[in-house]
Amino acid sequence: MNFNIALLPGDGTGPEVVAQAVKAVDAVCKKFGHTVSYTKGLVGACAIDATGDPFPEETFQTCLKSDAVLFGAVGDPRYDNNPTAKVRPETGLLAMRKKLGLFANLRPMETYKSLVDKSPLKPELVDGAEFLCIRELTGGMYFGEKGRRDNGNTAYDTNIYSRHEIERILKLAFEYAQRRRKHLTVVDKANVLESSRLWREVAQEMAPKYPDVQTDYMFVDNAAMQIVRFPKFFDVLVTENTFGDILTDEASVIAGSMGLLASASIGEHTSLFEPIHGSYPQAAGKNIANPLATILSAAMMFEYAFGLMEEGKAIRRAVNQSIEEAYVTEDLAAGGRSYSTSEVGDWVAAHI
Ligand code: IPM
Ligand code: MG
Repeated sequence: MNFNIALLPGDGTGPEVVAQAVKAVDAVCKKFGHTVSYTKGLVGACAIDATGDPFPEETFQTCLKSDAVLFGAVGDPRYDNNPTAKVRPETGLLAMRKKLGLFANLRPMETYKSLVDKSPLKPELVDGAEFLCIRELTGGMYFGEKGRRDNGNTAYDTNIYSRHEIERILKLAFEYAQRRRKHLTVVDKANVLESSRLWREVAQEMAPKYPDVQTDYMFVDNAAMQIVRFPKFFDVLVTENTFGDILTDEASVIAGSMGLLASASIGEHTSLFEPIHGSYPQAAGKNIANPLATILSAAMMFEYAFGLMEEGKAIRRAVNQSIEEAYVTEDLAAGGRSYSTSEVGDWVAAHI
């Protein structure tokens, strides 16, 4: 096959980690006889610097024309402590999600036997834990009406969801649960929020259509507790945009490093693949960031966007091997030697 991939390295360590994923993609394509071409695009702070727009039209067109988008991260400390900034790197990410219709964000939480001691949780809680967080990505408070009144002294964000938005994400969640261990946990705050009550109403209407799936309902505060108290409880967890943002950061520490978790965003147009760790600006340019999450995002790209499971597996196998043989960046090195971002990227590509 021939693939056109949009490369959006973004800010901070984004370019360094995306470069390693490209090595893995090239290696897999060579191994399986595919051809691949890349088109680069700007997003985030680098796009603001170059064009004034965090998600320029040109980048959008590049994404639309591609078979998949491989994305690094956006964010820049210049904006973080400036609440009055009119344009922000994150606005570019949100615009990209909205314009590409990426309503579902899949964030698998995976653990690695050789890393259970890196986790802040007890090894027996971590070993064997594995679940999929499905976060709604284009609705809720992120996109609801927001503003100020009272001379700027009162601020509001609206947590708004339509039945259609809830149904399509829940449908996906039920289907993923059917293909996995058939256990779905719908996370909301239906004891307080009207939007959550609609989520629960819709979920309860849909559940009988999936009799093979055991569906349960959990309030988000309780879910935050259960994720660290007994992560093995979860198989598929589905929730709204804001809750999903928070719970997936929480879930990411179970594995031992945020630098391991990949994600896929899928929806109406081209799907997008990215590490969940963000731009990590303190490490930018130092060649120390863990590239494995981005490399694993490339594996998800083969599996989810192209339906090529063997290619995905070849990448995962090499990543597992690098972890087992401790050929890893400093965040994962257990007292032993650590390797640079590009060394790990080369090693993984060579082992594919
Ligand atoms: C994420 C990030 C983004 C979000 C930020 C960078 C806007 O935290 O992808 O989880 O809040 O969705
Ligand atoms: Mg987040």
